[in-house]
Amino acid sequence: MNEASPWRGTDVGSAARVSRFNVPDLGVGVGFRVPHYSYILEHRPPMDWFEIISENFMVDGGSPLYHLEKLLASYPVIQHGVSMSLGSEANPEHLARLVKLANVVQPAWISDHVCFTGSATVNSHDLLPVPYTDEVVDHFVRRICEVKAQLGRVFAIENPSSYLGWKSTSMSEWEFIAQVVERADCAIMLDVNNVFVSSINHGFDPITYLDAIPADRVVQIHLAGHSIMDGYRLDTHDAPVCDEVWELYAYAIGRIGSVSTLIEWDGNIPEWSRLSDEAHRARELRAASVCA
Ligand SMILES: [Fe+2]
Repeated sequence: MNEASPWRGTDVGSAARVSRFNVPDLGVGVGFRVPHYSYILEHRPPMDWFEIISENFMVDGGSPLYHLEKLLASYPVIQHGVSMSLGSEANPEHLARLVKLANVVQPAWISDHVCFTGSATVNSHDLLPVPYTDEVVDHFVRRICEVKAQLGRVFAIENPSSYLGWKSTSMSEWEFIAQVVERADCAIMLDVNNVFVSSINHGFDPITYLDAIPADRVVQIHLAGHSIMDGYRLDTHDAPVCDEVWELYAYAIGRIGSVSTLIEWDGNIPEWSRLSDEAHRARELRAASVCA
């Protein structure tokens, strides 16, 4: 697997970190996106691992699975979802298709978001915030336990970016996530850009957030670029990671340890070499953090 990557197997951080889930530190990866399919599959460029959006491959065949099988032959692949809608009622058909894909990919973990995407009859196609209350903690714990039972593998929840909150909210987002992961015994996919975006939009200290996250439950970190509009930070994934988020990332891995990291870049997708450079910057910060 992945002879093409000079970084795979160097394991810069795994020895420095103890995760309760016994998952590997894969290094730094990027999202598997259509503009790069041909280049990646023809040239197998150095990259530690790839993340796929599960829903793009939950099909019975055709081009998506053709490309996925070629990717799996050369790189470790992790699944990340956008449609589980943990804040809503369960969708058994979605979960069944996710399980089917996971049996092909065999990922070390699977993640989805702390959000809801709609109701039984309406799909917003967006990751909407939920109220952070005891009742919603109960709901997430129930949903996540059902998902874990079906998947039979490590499941991680990702902190969302948000632009507004609910009046009924009675605890901070980091308190909500800490309670849910403890009671559901699940992992965390920590999106450092989302922490920063929400910290600006809601006026909290991102360091307080990072300090409150149970470090031994973090199995992956997301980094991404965002945009600014009318004083708000928007999680657009269409730009390089900004300096403030790089600083927070360095702080996060200083506290958590070196953990599998993924660059998300989904709009204005650059040439492969630019994306690879962004991944390499994260790789250098991981190495510096372990040596510090
Ligand atoms: Fe993310």
